[in-house]
Amino acid sequence: MNSAKITTDTIRQMKVEGRKIAMLTAYDYTFAKIIDEAGIDIILVGDSASNVMAGHETTVPITLDQMIYHGSSVVRAVKQALVVIDLPFGTYQTNTELAMQSAIRVMKETGAHAVKLEGGENVVATIKMMVNAGIPVMGHIGLTPQSIYQFGTYKTRADNEKDAAQLIKDALLLESVGCFAIVVEKIPAALSMELSNSLKIPLIGIGAGKHCDGQVLVMHDMLGLQSTFTPRFIRKYAQLKTVITDAVKQYSQDVKANEFPNDSESY
Ligand code: KIV
Repeated sequence: MNSAKITTDTIRQMKVEGRKIAMLTAYDYTFAKIIDEAGIDIILVGDSASNVMAGHETTVPITLDQMIYHGSSVVRAVKQALVVIDLPFGTYQTNTELAMQSAIRVMKETGAHAVKLEGGENVVATIKMMVNAGIPVMGHIGLTPQSIYQFGTYKTRADNEKDAAQLIKDALLLESVGCFAIVVEKIPAALSMELSNSLKIPLIGIGAGKHCDGQVLVMHDMLGLQSTFTPRFIRKYAQLKTVITDAVKQYSQDVKANEFPNDSESY
């Protein structure tokens, strides 16, 4: 397990030293405390909270206030990991002033260490302004769930020459304006290798193969807390849905049979 507090500088240095970066999402105090104590490098308060915590079909509906609520809950739990918070849809795309206000609110009201936002060339000016204002920014390219209605599909991105060339261009632009890392989602593994070799900053993949400098998964997926969303890039490290179901059934049975509480559990 690591012991020093992880900073954006640590993350950059990990790539230099060839040490892989492990990142997971969290949205609440209890889980954030567990995964921080387990030694995760980066905790992402993802806008996937929209799906995982609120049950929406996409990440589009979640608001800035809701992200700040989740983010501050996570920050209160974390002693070591770098905490990155997603700027939700509609809080940075329309103009740089709004984007700055959103990022500043996230930094001031949550105590997080960085923000993440989706896009390439189209968000470069915004990212440049944030970085100049002292806000660390993580980019996110490839499959960008906030634009799902524009693409209409969750299929693999940049799987042709033209899109691959644009993705590389986007990544280099994000690096040039000061992103400290880039998440790349659902692209061919061979393209990730080329991207990682072209970038000095870390490339953190989800569904992007093993050549990335790090990996990120949605915590609820890798813990097996859900069984409906099953793309091949999710490896289940536990089957918590089964564990919880069995525990709840047992508790229910014990209550109904008057076997809970027993004398030693009573006053
Ligand atoms: O919101 C999220 O969970 C994310 C990850 C999938 C990278 O952006």
